[in-house]
Amino acid sequence: MKFNLALANLLLLSLVGFAIQGCQGKVVQFIFGDSLSDVGNNKYLSRSLAQASLPYYGIDFGNGLPNGRFTNGRTVADIIGDHTGLPRPPAFLDPSLTEDVILENGVNYASGGGGILNETGGYFIQRLSLWKQIELFQGTTELIKNKLGKQAADKFFQEANFVVALGSNDFINNYLMPVYSDSWKYNDETFVEYLMETLQKQLQVLHSLGARKVMVFGLGPMGCIPLQRVLSTTGQCQQKANNLALSFNKAASKLIVNIGKQLPNSSFRFGDAYDVVDDVIRNPYKYGFNNSDSPCCSLGSIRPALTCLPASTLCEDRSKYVFWDEYHPSDSANELIANELIKKFGFLGVNPEAPTPAPESAIAPSPDE
Ligand SMILES: *[C@@H]1O[C@H](CO)[C@@H](O)[C@H](O)[C@H]1NC(C)=O
Ligand SMILES: *[C@@H]1O[C@H](CO)[C@@H](O)[C@H](O)[C@H]1NC(C)=O
Ligand SMILES: *[C@@H]1O[C@H](CO)[C@@H](O)[C@H](O)[C@H]1NC(C)=O
Repeated sequence: MKFNLALANLLLLSLVGFAIQGCQGKVVQFIFGDSLSDVGNNKYLSRSLAQASLPYYGIDFGNGLPNGRFTNGRTVADIIGDHTGLPRPPAFLDPSLTEDVILENGVNYASGGGGILNETGGYFIQRLSLWKQIELFQGTTELIKNKLGKQAADKFFQEANFVVALGSNDFINNYLMPVYSDSWKYNDETFVEYLMETLQKQLQVLHSLGARKVMVFGLGPMGCIPLQRVLSTTGQCQQKANNLALSFNKAASKLIVNIGKQLPNSSFRFGDAYDVVDDVIRNPYKYGFNNSDSPCCSLGSIRPALTCLPASTLCEDRSKYVFWDEYHPSDSANELIANELIKKFGFLGVNPEAPTPAPESAIAPSPDE
């Protein structure tokens, strides 16, 4: 009797669960970004030189094997998604991606080396630029429309969260490198304008494809990544690169507010963690870090070693290093950045008429690592 009751309850629960699922659909996220958000797309770009496919990438994530993330643990988008109760979307190029997987988990299009501009990161041979990522997303919308019908598909995308997090490669792997023509065609001011004009068009296209809730992440003090520090004889941060990040953030923040006003029924938000990362780099001990100027994974005296390799040496305590490799923050630093962004996105409603987020019950629990 007891057993039957339990069984009946279970049945009832799953039926109710199914009904909720069936009528409301699930809130998922679509992520557009570079190596800071890549969860494996570049693994499938066989000619790409931007790879996180060797140990010790992923050492503090899941089974500890490389998983495509360019860090030892979680990305900022992982941590923010977990906090909001959203599933972690798989890489677009993952061969197991199907319509059902997309409906349950969303998609991550982020690609190491990618930028807002098509020409950014050409040195890496293969990477998905933001335009390319948006083109792939358009394909995803067609797929889901064919599966669900237009009305249900529109609703699915309108309720989804969108993350757009690119820009550092447009500087580090384009404008600031003399081999790229953008470095002599533009000056600091006109280059940031060019990025903003492009980003504006890209966000408009995303909106026309159904995106309504969009979070755009700004840049950190990119002149302080270990790779930039070794460029100077004194090992100091590159002030020019930091100033460019600040100009980008200022211009992007303004752009996002305007876009939110222009595009109907949308919630466009901008957030950056520049100030807190800048402070961590200056005062690592204050935040429980022990090192903020060199990579945890390094080849000793060979600097910069452009990637973390099996031959590299790891720092003793990975949670005490701000940087994992020459470019990318560690899991602990990503947690700090994510918490700052959560605070900013939580308190700064750019668009007060933003649709209220879906109720907690419709949101799936976050996957375990
Ligand atoms: C950028 O690349 C996309 C294809 O991914 C192409 O459709 C678009 O025309 C390109 N834009 C520019 C400005 O080159
Ligand atoms: C905005 O949302 C309202 C309510 O859902 C809807 O009636 C209206 O058509 C939408 N407007 C546009 C331009 O999408
Ligand atoms: C911090 O670094 C110093 C020197 O690099 C080392 O002696 C010390 O043990 C480290 N502390 C922690 C908590 O890792």
